[in-house]
Amino acid sequence: MTYEYEKVATPGSGLRLHLNENTAGCSPAVLDALRAITSETAAFYPDYSDAIAASCEHLGVLPSNLLLTNGLDEGILGATVAALRSRPATGAPEAVVIVPAFDMYAASADAAGATVLEVPCRENFEFPLADVLGAINPRTRIIFITSPNNPTGITVARESILTIAAAAPGALIFVDEAYADFSGISLIGTPALEAQPNLVIGRTFAKAYGLAAMRVGALVGAPGVLAPIRRVVPPYSLNVAAAVALPAALRDRARYAWYVGEVRESRQLLYDALDRLGVRYWPSDGNFVLARFGDRSQRVIKGLLERGIYLRDRSKDHGCAGCVRITTGVVAHTRRCIDAIEEVLCDER
Ligand SMILES: Cc1ncc(COP(=O)(O)O)c(C=O)c1O
Repeated sequence: MTYEYEKVATPGSGLRLHLNENTAGCSPAVLDALRAITSETAAFYPDYSDAIAASCEHLGVLPSNLLLTNGLDEGILGATVAALRSRPATGAPEAVVIVPAFDMYAASADAAGATVLEVPCRENFEFPLADVLGAINPRTRIIFITSPNNPTGITVARESILTIAAAAPGALIFVDEAYADFSGISLIGTPALEAQPNLVIGRTFAKAYGLAAMRVGALVGAPGVLAPIRRVVPPYSLNVAAAVALPAALRDRARYAWYVGEVRESRQLLYDALDRLGVRYWPSDGNFVLARFGDRSQRVIKGLLERGIYLRDRSKDHGCAGCVRITTGVVAHTRRCIDAIEEVLCDER
């Protein structure tokens, strides 16, 4: 079996509620920073000092605990390649992926030559702690944990993560916190990061900061955990646009706070609408909600597409039959989406 990232069509116009992007766009300060790029700064290899300083201040870590990457995708790939460098005495190295999961873990591990071991969530997407512990063996090199998870939006208990990290000292535990800005729950800043020498945390500035097209993410961990990953990630992996955009975005605290508030309100609006419609959903800590429309899911996706609104079909993911993932960003966008869903479902009655 080969694993690939499912790259869905990215329409130029319409309401994009299918990729968990920031539906408000980036801060205007980012555009000012981009306009300030000169012909010289475009010609020289980028200087990351401002981007690193702003990220460290924002995350409350030292530069030795931080590695900026070309999107978190590059962080996932870099960490995977680094983890797989030590080969088991017998057999292929293994990567544990708890499904349903973000595609990039299995795609990166497969591309780097690991055997992908999928561990399914329990009923109702309950975190399968005992099964993950049972999957660990001397060939395990990397375990991916996403909190809050994509596509479910469910946060994984810190104790579960630490139990896994302690049980797999020979593996890298990659904790993907791409959506932690919306949950406010993070391992960063906790003693666990220094105490547990095999933990690395992934963050992205694509979501809460609206820099998806800039491609900028970060890995956070103890210096010894990051060292082998630094050897994999190219020295100039962020281009100058990302390097100037990041500090500008991070310093616009008002916009960040406003957007996180919009997401919170949007989620609640969507829950209320789904309750009215009798549609099952999972309360989410991310900027999206997974909803089970069952045999009406394709009608909802198609009906909204006809109205210029893009949703993500997740029905092929483990345990997600009939499920659609809906980005919950700007409240006005969420209201438009809810109206369209109600229209499609009412038309059908
Ligand atoms: C869980 C998760 N990790 C990582 C990423 C990728 O982030 P980036 O856009 O910074 O590469 C995504 C993007 O959707 C994601 O959902």
